[in-house]
Amino acid sequence: MSTTKPVRKAVIPVAGLGTRFLPVTKAMPKEMLPVVDKPAIQYVVEEAVSVGLDDILMITGRNKRALEDHFDRVPSLEATLEEKGDEKKLAAIQESNNLGDIHYVRQGDPKGLGHAVLCSQRHVGAEPFAVLLGDDLIDERDELLGEMIRVQQATGGSVVALMEVPREAISAYGCAMVSPVEGESFVQVHGLVEKPAPEDAPSNLAIIGRYVLHPAVFGVLEETEPGRGGEIQLTDALQTLARREGEGGGVYGVVFRGRRYDTGDKLSYLKAVVTLACGREEFGEDLRSWLRDFVSEGADVPSTAGA
Ligand code: G1P
Repeated sequence: MSTTKPVRKAVIPVAGLGTRFLPVTKAMPKEMLPVVDKPAIQYVVEEAVSVGLDDILMITGRNKRALEDHFDRVPSLEATLEEKGDEKKLAAIQESNNLGDIHYVRQGDPKGLGHAVLCSQRHVGAEPFAVLLGDDLIDERDELLGEMIRVQQATGGSVVALMEVPREAISAYGCAMVSPVEGESFVQVHGLVEKPAPEDAPSNLAIIGRYVLHPAVFGVLEETEPGRGGEIQLTDALQTLARREGEGGGVYGVVFRGRRYDTGDKLSYLKAVVTLACGREEFGEDLRSWLRDFVSEGADVPSTAGA
């Protein structure tokens, strides 16, 4: 049992250009895309806060002002809703400004996920911290981050979230080589490779966008050369830590078997929205029944090219 500082902070990189969603992301951050009635980023912040991580640092870039506005108050709108006595809408807009203590730092020159995490060094300091990527939404009924924090505290190393994916899909993810840890529900990570071709992948275990990291990762990231895509890869830094023994060394994995919604590309995003909307009490049943009719009628709509 190692003694380690508690995990209190969450880092959320949001500096990506969102090119997979053009043209909608031309002037709007992809993290603000609505997932039913909340921007995607709000689900991620809520997840961090739900496990006690209420010190949140967003690593931002240009075009991201809407994010700061969303987590801020809007006194004029609050006053209007108060005057009207519309408690429900008032609560809905206040929800996002009462979510923890949110800080922002600019990444400047986006040089990859590893570089984004390195930008959090001053804020995080010498304590373990969580990293949450906005493209992955984890169903609030399924536990992941809390379990990862427990594993970090028990091992004193770094922890990644893993999920089994079809082999042909592994090239979209970091891929882990693991072995079981006796008597434990987590696994030890021996090797990591960023976005391998399916034939070179050491397993079908993909890293999904949740990490709980030992601060030793910062020193490693400083030394990490650009990797896949010419970017400084967090996966490469974790590969170094996986091989390191002693303080800050060791990488472990929590294999997630719950519900994850990918919002990283247009089709996955649409599926995530429909899935979550179908689960909503106020209109889920109506939507499901409309979808059944729509599909059984052959969903006969002409294709448009889109972007
Ligand atoms: C990043 C990581 C990758 C991980 C993925 C999870 O890739 O580099 O290892 O599997 O997030 O979503 P990205 O999707 O940003 O290209």
